[in-house]
Amino acid sequence: MKIDILLGLQWGDEGKGKIVDAICPGYDIIARFQGGPNAGHSLEFNKVKHVLHLIPSGIFHAEKLNVIGNGVVIDPAVFRTEIGTLGLTLDELIERLVISTRANLILPGHRILDAAYEHSKGNTKIGSTLKGIGPAYTDKVGRNGLRAGDILLKDFREMYDNHMKNHLTILKNYDFSFDLKEYEAGWFEGIEVLKKFRITNTEYLVNELIEKGKKLLAEGAQGTMLDIDFGSYPYVTSSSTISAGACIGLGISPGKVGEVIGIFKAYCTRVGSGPFPTELNDATGDLLRKTGHEFGSTTGRPRRCGWLDLPALKYAIMINGVTQLFMTKSDVMSGIDIVKVCTSYKSGGKECREIPFENLPVEPVYKELPGWKENISEIREFGKLPENLKQYIKYVEDQTGIPVRMVSVGADRQETIFRR
Ligand code: GDP
Ligand code: IMO
Ligand code: MG
Repeated sequence: MKIDILLGLQWGDEGKGKIVDAICPGYDIIARFQGGPNAGHSLEFNKVKHVLHLIPSGIFHAEKLNVIGNGVVIDPAVFRTEIGTLGLTLDELIERLVISTRANLILPGHRILDAAYEHSKGNTKIGSTLKGIGPAYTDKVGRNGLRAGDILLKDFREMYDNHMKNHLTILKNYDFSFDLKEYEAGWFEGIEVLKKFRITNTEYLVNELIEKGKKLLAEGAQGTMLDIDFGSYPYVTSSSTISAGACIGLGISPGKVGEVIGIFKAYCTRVGSGPFPTELNDATGDLLRKTGHEFGSTTGRPRRCGWLDLPALKYAIMINGVTQLFMTKSDVMSGIDIVKVCTSYKSGGKECREIPFENLPVEPVYKELPGWKENISEIREFGKLPENLKQYIKYVEDQTGIPVRMVSVGADRQETIFRR
């Protein structure tokens, strides 16, 4: 049995949570493989919207196993708060969720360091979600991390104190005030909650289940253009957000990967700093933000909005080995007369189709396509979509060579069109 991977092809917030929830019935296991509480995955059903940060988006489906894999970084305080928002009992959650012993923990010191580093950067700040992601992954690869399995050990408190001492030493170099006690209280309460859950060697568990014929969906977080290697470094997150990250973050071999589902918005958004060639600082950008409710699910920050960027999309398809595309939020573009798609960039008078290494401004070259006017949120059959939207989709397919297998026309689970 092969596993499928669903991941974002842009700068995050492509609608992964909604789609994972929508396709969940076809799977037995939903597994997060990287990132942490920087993610904000929204999903909606029965007119209620839920936002998940650490918990995989299959949690609302009884009988599905949700896995927080070894590649994820867990903040126990966020975990504790989040499980309280889901409307599920602790027993239900314990039954549906398992956590890797090897997942690294975000410590209070990591959150403080994240804020101190950003504060010291002034104009060059990354625009981090300030959840402690960078410092936690830094300690992981620096072999200084604490892991979920450690919380079950006798000397855990001593281990924690040593880590905290290190963080305080580093923080002495920064002119940054903080209230450690406040962070620590919630964090240790979170540790007690975590201990109630199954913390296990999930790499064995998932491989055994796959062997028995169970279907696993790996749920990406962030987006390809925020990847530590392939994003616009340093304006990226600190983990491998790409399909290869699913193997590392779950302990599954590359040969077991089946479909790679790449999800993209019909336009682009980015939250935080960094290059965004097709960004619209005009009325159309405002319209997309307003109609698309483009405000961060984790931080509430307004998202930067712009036209679809094909060189970036093609790059993401190449890096991930995408086998099928899912497109979200085309309903948001209804009513725009002429829609634009960036086909290449101009830099120093030359046209280029590659994502540049340097974060210098480039000028997008656009192809214009006729827009669609109809309200499409009630449509459930691909054939009934407006002709111009179908042409837009066909154009993306022709340009990328990858079929668009799903079109999302609203935030609700039901507002989803699968193509046969
Ligand atoms: P994620 O991080 O990739 O899961 O995406 P977010 O949840 O951060 O942001 C996507 C936002 O768009 C959420 O508010 C979703 O409820 C919403 N959404 C998802 N798909 C659609 C869609 O097709 N149309 C509209 N209008 N909203 C959508
Ligand atoms: P989901 O899973 C959008 C962005 C931040 C910042 C950069 C680094 O909801 O798509 P970090 O906190 O990781 O150090 O921030 O990455 N970022 C996201 N943007 N969606 C996300 O997750 C993001 N996770 C991180 O805004 O620019
Ligand atoms: Mg999000």
